[in-house]
Amino acid sequence: MKKLLFFAISLILYSNSAFRQSAKLDAQEVKALKEIWGKLKLTRKKEWNFEKDPCSGEGNWRLSVGCNCSFETNTTCHVTHISITSQYVAAILPWEFAKLQFLQSLDLDYNYLRGTIPSNWATMRLTTLSLMGNRLSGLFPTALARMTTLQDLNIEGNQFKGSIPEEIAKMKNLERLVLSSNDFSGQLPDALSKLTNLTDLRISDNNFTGKIPRFISKWTQIRKLHIQGCSFEGAIPSSISVLTQLNDLRISDLKGGASTFPPLQKMTHLKILVLRNCLIYGPIPYYVGYLRSLQTLDLSFNNLTGDIPYSFSMLKKVEYIYLTENNLTGLMPEWFLSSTKVIDVSYNHFTWDAYGPKRCEEGAINVVESYSSSTKKQNDIHPCLRKDFPCTKLDSQKIRSLHINCGGEEVNINNFIKYDADTERRGASTYYNDGNWAFSSTGNFLDDDHDSYILFNTSNLHSIPTLDTDLYTTARTSAISLTYYGLCLANGDYTVRLHFAEIVFTQDNPSGKLGKRVFDVYVQGELKLKDFDIVEAAGGIGKAIIKSYIVNVKNNTLKIRLYWAGKGTTGIPYRGCYGPIISAISVNQSK
Ligand SMILES: *[C@@H]1O[C@H](CO)[C@@H](O)[C@H](O)[C@H]1NC(C)=O
Ligand SMILES: *[C@@H]1O[C@H](CO)[C@@H](O)[C@H](O)[C@H]1NC(C)=O
Ligand SMILES: *[C@@H]1O[C@H](CO)[C@@H](O)[C@H](O)[C@H]1NC(C)=O
Ligand SMILES: *[C@@H]1O[C@H](CO)[C@@H](O)[C@H](O)[C@H]1NC(C)=O
Ligand SMILES: *[C@@H]1O[C@H](CO)[C@@H](O)[C@H](O)[C@H]1NC(C)=O
Ligand SMILES: *[C@@H]1O[C@H](CO)[C@@H](O)[C@H](O)[C@H]1NC(C)=O
Ligand SMILES: *[C@@H]1O[C@H](CO)[C@@H](O)[C@H](O)[C@H]1NC(C)=O
Ligand SMILES: *[C@@H]1O[C@H](CO)[C@@H](O)[C@H](O)[C@H]1NC(C)=O
Repeated sequence: MKKLLFFAISLILYSNSAFRQSAKLDAQEVKALKEIWGKLKLTRKKEWNFEKDPCSGEGNWRLSVGCNCSFETNTTCHVTHISITSQYVAAILPWEFAKLQFLQSLDLDYNYLRGTIPSNWATMRLTTLSLMGNRLSGLFPTALARMTTLQDLNIEGNQFKGSIPEEIAKMKNLERLVLSSNDFSGQLPDALSKLTNLTDLRISDNNFTGKIPRFISKWTQIRKLHIQGCSFEGAIPSSISVLTQLNDLRISDLKGGASTFPPLQKMTHLKILVLRNCLIYGPIPYYVGYLRSLQTLDLSFNNLTGDIPYSFSMLKKVEYIYLTENNLTGLMPEWFLSSTKVIDVSYNHFTWDAYGPKRCEEGAINVVESYSSSTKKQNDIHPCLRKDFPCTKLDSQKIRSLHINCGGEEVNINNFIKYDADTERRGASTYYNDGNWAFSSTGNFLDDDHDSYILFNTSNLHSIPTLDTDLYTTARTSAISLTYYGLCLANGDYTVRLHFAEIVFTQDNPSGKLGKRVFDVYVQGELKLKDFDIVEAAGGIGKAIIKSYIVNVKNNTLKIRLYWAGKGTTGIPYRGCYGPIISAISVNQSK
């Protein structure tokens, strides 16, 4: 969208300047551009030819430089827009950008820029600055706080650290502020409450402390608010109720301090509502069904009790409903079972009646383990619907080992261990049973058009024994939670081996290295890996790491859950790239 807009602007400016053949870029600015292009090592590329006037709109100039040529009776141009994205520029940020005093918009997304923001940038009068997906570091740059003209600032996916400074209060014109996926810490300063023009604030995937502040109520214009995986403690403040313009609210993975459902009844514009793992208990308010614009509703991993409100039938626009892992009871709405919408109600305590589901996946609804074990008529209920997931096979049919090539075809490793194929393509709300094993997958990738739950290696694998490479060329992924089940295992001790390799980020393209994938792993309900980062554990991209656990299987069932706790980057190398991945699973009974 932004790119398109910029493209349109540059076209307009280009046609203006084309009209006036005589208009030329100001000589001082030509010099400054040469210095900048030199420092960014772009002069080596023939696309930017300084023989042509940078405002001429020829070659790559048209896409990367926008000018206003109406100066000195249409004879002089000044650079107003610069966009150099995905050029894999490995350099420090040139201070010479500050020489372009007419520059309004600077977009350097997806490069490999390092260092910090030069202090002389404080003299610039930018309205838009986007530095997403680089490796800029240091404290929040004070030069930015002094650039009070900024309306749109995006520094997502860098390595800035420390607390958000009080000076940020000076950036009164900010409408969009994206700080996600940095190493910011500390409490959010009161100064942020001064930014009353904010319409879009994203601070996910930082390491803040304290609570989500009550002053969020000051952001009365806000439409998009993302606070995922931030380590905030305690409840969502009730002052949030006044933010009636919100259409995209995402809060996840709060810790310490349970609360009831926050007051959202006035947020009738909400399209996306994510309140995942926020320690919310008590009933789902009836009014949620009246939030008629809702398209995605994610209330998973809370402690919600009571019935699903009847009002949910009014959610005509909804496409995705996630109520996974709560404590919901009563009868499941009958229309859920025939719905074409993606609905996941797995891991709850519904009461089964004769109209209840017969299997764990009915249409697009995942109902695995959604019925209370105390439900009457236990024997009528399909085992996969029940909490204890009982095995109905004879002892002689129980298995003692299990091998799955997650996301891939059947392979024989060393010619004698057969890894089962696992190629089911669905995953937003899916239960898939292969006989000896099954998986339950929850979540679609937000902000991403191509939902893909099977991933393929995008570059070469390294230091993986050739015999094993087939296990790592594919992986299964999930946007919220992925649980593999070993079914009908003979009881006893097992060695569970989880095979991981990062196959999506790539070494070949510098900005592809900047992605960070972080998730949690539970085996038999026990947290085994917190904030697991495959690249860190394996020592690089495309390298394998095997995590091995000895576990006891009591009720013939083994459960391995991978959960995305809102951490890690979500936009590198492409928007919507996040969540757990796993390459293979092997399970063997201990001798
Ligand atoms: C170009 O600059 C002139 C003079 O500052 C200004 O009046 C005009 O609005 C600008 N044009 C555009 C398209 O920004
Ligand atoms: C400059 O160009 C614009 C658009 O082409 C035109 O409307 C305007 O009259 C010109 N100004 C002068 C001083 O020539
Ligand atoms: C909000 O933006 C408007 C222009 O859109 C500006 O006039 C106003 O000063 C800004 N608000 C604050 C608190 O600065
Ligand atoms: C987050 O901050 C806390 C202390 O405030 C610290 O103990 C923890 O290690 C930090 N986590 C990360 C991932 O940096
Ligand atoms: C869920 O909430 C109930 C009270 O409604 C409480 O008794 C129970 O301990 C909570 N469970 C969890 C896992 O927080
Ligand atoms: C479910 O809710 C009941 C009270 O309604 C509570 O006793 C029980 O502990 C809850 N279960 C879980 C798993 O939170
Ligand atoms: C995936 O990895 C294999 C093994 O290293 C390699 O042969 C193949 O070319 C890789 N695929 C891509 C698309 O790079
Ligand atoms: C095994 O299942 C029985 C009922 O079938 C249940 O009482 C028991 O708690 C289960 N054990 C485990 C470890 O889940």
